[in-house]
Amino acid sequence: MSELIIRRSHTKKYMFTILNQVSGNTFKVSGDEFILDGAIANGVNFPYGCQNGFCGQCKATLIDGEVDYTEDGIPPGITPEEVDDNMVLLCRCKAKSDVSIVVSELDDSANIEVKTMPCKVQKIERLSHDVAKVLLKIPGDESLQYLPGQYIDVIHPDFEPRAFSIANSPANSSLIEIHVRLINDGKFTNFVFNELQENSLLKIEGPKGDFYLRENSDDPIIMVAGGTGFGPVKAMVEHAIDIGITRQIHIYWGARNEDDLYSDLGYKWDKEHDNVNFVPVLSQEDGDSWQGRKGYVHESVLEDFDNLTEYEVYACGPPDMVKAVADTFASKGMFKDSFFADSFEFSSQ
Ligand SMILES: Cc1cc2nc3c(=O)[nH]c(=O)nc-3n(C[C@H](O)[C@H](O)[C@H](O)COP(=O)(O)OP(=O)(O)OC[C@H]3O[C@@H](n4cnc5c(N)ncnc54)[C@H](O)[C@@H]3O)c2cc1C
Ligand code: FES
Repeated sequence: MSELIIRRSHTKKYMFTILNQVSGNTFKVSGDEFILDGAIANGVNFPYGCQNGFCGQCKATLIDGEVDYTEDGIPPGITPEEVDDNMVLLCRCKAKSDVSIVVSELDDSANIEVKTMPCKVQKIERLSHDVAKVLLKIPGDESLQYLPGQYIDVIHPDFEPRAFSIANSPANSSLIEIHVRLINDGKFTNFVFNELQENSLLKIEGPKGDFYLRENSDDPIIMVAGGTGFGPVKAMVEHAIDIGITRQIHIYWGARNEDDLYSDLGYKWDKEHDNVNFVPVLSQEDGDSWQGRKGYVHESVLEDFDNLTEYEVYACGPPDMVKAVADTFASKGMFKDSFFADSFEFSSQ
């Protein structure tokens, strides 16, 4: 265990300075707040995803100083080996002294304020037996600035906030589209399917996450979506088309059976844009009626590409799928720096 990490020391409520040695950025946090929360409050763009200790996206290397986790101990998003290597999860640890860390901040294009805004449910449309498209209208002249691929928390007074990826390009950012999959026994998603009415008022908080289209690269792209992971892919592809990106984009969309492919847009993009290639992959379609690809979606990519060194890979959807992509694509040469993911973990609350 790292000597730099001291647990539950009795420190008075001091302000500490956090220094990121990569960017030279510094900010102050109190010993009572999570370091990531301090970074966000100070407009420092550390990467993050779930903010709950699960996804591991807020990992940094501790160079100097002391941090502490809550009484719940080391969160699941970091392994004991990583802890031994002085890695910390910034969303769950608090400073106990001035701290120096090393972490790659998001680039300037991600310098977007996280806002909490009211919104009205403009439309709820069933796209399949277990997916609904919900359009959220931000009133007046307000809009939500975001990067395609990012997500919002949807806030209702009766529930804990729930994360949903934005499924439309930022071109019309006063109208937010989300694709909601119904979860068995899920409190909020059942509410959306059974009780939420058009014209109801909700709040959203965002944009969040570092899963967004990197525009400052010429590398060809592979997008791997599982289920409603198609939502953020849709936002990124629509944006790429809007701004005339000509990089090759291969979209692999995994679902259980044909009914789960809740949108025809992939076929349309493929037909209308030379640089877009759409491959739906079904994992539970055994009959002859489906002539397309079968199996797990990441396996189809591995069959189609011998070498992934020059590709940027974007993966989003169920945690198992995202993990399978991360684990197996690396063996075909995918670089860690060229891999971006949003794992649709569920809330722990
Ligand atoms: C960054 C991010 C982006 C997301 N984007 C989307 C999106 O665009 N579309 C979308 O449909 N979902 C998305 N999710 C997942 C979504 O947030 C959860 O499905 C939702 O919070 C479930 O809320 P609930 O109240 O219905 O379920 P809860 O009442 O919180 O959960 C009930 C039980 O269902 C199970 N469960 C809950 N969620 C899931 C899940 N996702 N997969 C498997 N089992 C689950 C758990 O066992 C849980 O105990 C995203 C998650 C994250 C972290
Ligand atoms: S583990 Fe920290 S943001 Fe997900």
